[in-house]
Amino acid sequence: MSTATRLTQHPIDPLFTRRWSPRAFTGEAISHSDLMQCLEAARWAPSASNSQPWRFIYALRDTAAWDPIFGTLVEFNRDWAHRAGALIVVLSRTHWVAPGYVEHRPLPSHSFDAGAAWANLALQTTQAGWHAHAMAGFDRDLLRTRLGVPADYAIEAVVAIGRIGDKSLLPEALAQREIPSQRLPLEELVAEGKFAFGA
Ligand SMILES: Cc1cc2nc3c(=O)[nH]c(=O)nc-3n(C[C@H](O)[C@H](O)[C@H](O)COP(=O)(O)O)c2cc1C
Repeated sequence: MSTATRLTQHPIDPLFTRRWSPRAFTGEAISHSDLMQCLEAARWAPSASNSQPWRFIYALRDTAAWDPIFGTLVEFNRDWAHRAGALIVVLSRTHWVAPGYVEHRPLPSHSFDAGAAWANLALQTTQAGWHAHAMAGFDRDLLRTRLGVPADYAIEAVVAIGRIGDKSLLPEALAQREIPSQRLPLEELVAEGKFAFGA
């Protein structure tokens, strides 16, 4: 599926529009080293006080780590993510011992920072010839229990990584939706000086 229909209002690196979230994955396995390359990009995201609150738990397909994560996805996501090559659970640390302190203090930007890491990961994944698709549709409590995630870590998303395939790999209803999405115009997203946005 071409992303050529994604027209930008200003010139940007084509990587930004080549990144999208397909569901038609081929089932191709991704190697450990290719996956680590994607995560390396995530590692270099900026964060408040360089706190680096992101953490990643991965599972490669056809390994013992796969089912405990895959099984927490809602049915809608299981219907396509079963052909991913890897699943990555994105966590963020909600508290840390900041430089100069001895006690744990809240990290108010933990989700913002983890979002930056996910964006880096998705762009590097695209650059390397794979695609990443984030999901919020999963059972957080079950995932937390299964993976032993402590209470001071937020579960942000599960990301499927795979090799893009033809939309005929998908059930009919999903195949119809397999089109790169568009964006709101910049004028609706940006204001100078004060809040000036519609409902
Ligand atoms: C935090 C987050 C949660 C998402 N959850 C799901 C999901 O559960 N299932 C799904 O199919 N897509 C999910 N998506 C994909 C979005 O629908 C997609 O990113 C959005 O429509 C923009 O399209 P694009 O990524 O192709 O540019 C999620 C994306 C994000 C960033």
